[in-house]
Amino acid sequence: MRSSSSVIKLPKNLRKKIKEKERKCVCFPQHLGTVEIPMVWSEFRLNSQLCDGVIVCEDGVQFRIHRVILSAVSAYFKAHFTNSLNGGFPENTEAKVSVSSDIFKNILDFAYTGCCNIEANNVEHLLKAADQYDVLGVIQLCCRYVLDLSQFVDLSCANMFEIKGKVALITGGASGIGFQYAVELLNNGLKGVTLADINEEFGEIALQDISQKFGDGKAIFVKVDVTNQKQFEDAFKKTVEKFENIDILINNAGILDDRIWETEIDINIKGTVTGTLLAIQNYIHKHKSGPEGVIVNISSVAGVDPAPILPIYCATKYAIIGFTRSFGTEMHYALSNVRVFAICPGFTDTPLMTNFEVKSLKPEYTTSFKKVKHLVVYQQPADIARHAVELIKTAPQGSIWVIDSKEPPYEYSHIPRQKVKELTANSN
Ligand SMILES: NC(=O)c1ccc[n+]([C@@H]2O[C@H](COP(=O)([O-])OP(=O)(O)OC[C@H]3O[C@@H](n4cnc5c(N)ncnc54)[C@H](O)[C@@H]3O)[C@@H](O)[C@H]2O)c1
Repeated sequence: MRSSSSVIKLPKNLRKKIKEKERKCVCFPQHLGTVEIPMVWSEFRLNSQLCDGVIVCEDGVQFRIHRVILSAVSAYFKAHFTNSLNGGFPENTEAKVSVSSDIFKNILDFAYTGCCNIEANNVEHLLKAADQYDVLGVIQLCCRYVLDLSQFVDLSCANMFEIKGKVALITGGASGIGFQYAVELLNNGLKGVTLADINEEFGEIALQDISQKFGDGKAIFVKVDVTNQKQFEDAFKKTVEKFENIDILINNAGILDDRIWETEIDINIKGTVTGTLLAIQNYIHKHKSGPEGVIVNISSVAGVDPAPILPIYCATKYAIIGFTRSFGTEMHYALSNVRVFAICPGFTDTPLMTNFEVKSLKPEYTTSFKKVKHLVVYQQPADIARHAVELIKTAPQGSIWVIDSKEPPYEYSHIPRQKVKELTANSN
């Protein structure tokens, strides 16, 4: 995985020993056994609750931490905290680091939130510290900060997800951008693709098109309404039956029509949730052909900015961002080895956008948009798909990518609540 290749496989004999050893010092109350949301842990850390370890920085500042959280992003700390278990020595609960607290705080921020504050005046020290303590995610973030993204992509081929020989399932894959994802993946050597779509007519045309371009046997169509779990699962089963594996899911099916907002919510949110759960809990988790699977959730620029014309469509796309960021955490990757990220396309020339103004709840909502409508830059579905396939190879776990106005993709970054609080406090 890109930013979280920190999932460390311990040698079998050591794993067994750790299981056998009772970790007495981690004294979680029974009722907190299921609290596992990283943000909750972040809150715990800030209040020094349930901490079971201490990091002592070179300037003497100490951070109370949860060893398991830091270990999840750092091979160094994982080894430091678990080595003592091998041989019956007392557990290590403290680690001294030869790094200033200013720098180490960023590593902790990353461990607990997936983000950290990289700036021109700290990147060099942070990169050095991340390298020293094996925090691969921070190394990658620093590299991305320093290098132009496209150069970085070229340089990081060694850690790239290979499309060649993989199998994909694309919802809403019979037309529009979804169909172009299929074409572009096949252009990159995909073994096979399932087009899971509600529209059979589009499905037939799409299959003909694919067999003309790539030969027979590369694609199947399964009629699926993504709001129907049984039909959705059937598409996963048929994919594995036909192609033996499944590695990539693109949760692309979506509608834009606030007049039928219950259906819109069902398709856009429930469809994405259903697909992700089936993939993570069962199909991609168990039937991927390599070490890693990928889920791409399709949000929209209306998932990061307000859309006054279409508030409900906007809400569905915001939901996809929260969902992706949550499943896009280190903990979920460690459990499933499935990398989850989202793409937010801007205006793209497909039937979804035809007369979209009339799909608003009230005509009054569209008045101001009509004045600027001529300024909109429409992209082509094939352009989105080309960028999307590059992102499938490289996008970090939990990342959100905007592809808008015919420009190269850029990562949409999120400022953690705690950071906003600190910035506000500093500016007062
Ligand atoms: N076109 C844009 O400008 C744009 C911008 C941002 C995000 N998006 C998102 O990209 C995705 C694809 O959009 P598009 O522009 O290609 O749309 P589209 O209307 O051209 O294609 C959507 C496909 O989804 C299928 N579909 C609809 N309901 C379904 C259901 N219940 N179950 C299974 N399949 C269903 C349709 O049959 C169709 O083949 C959507 O999630 C959309 O919200 C599009």
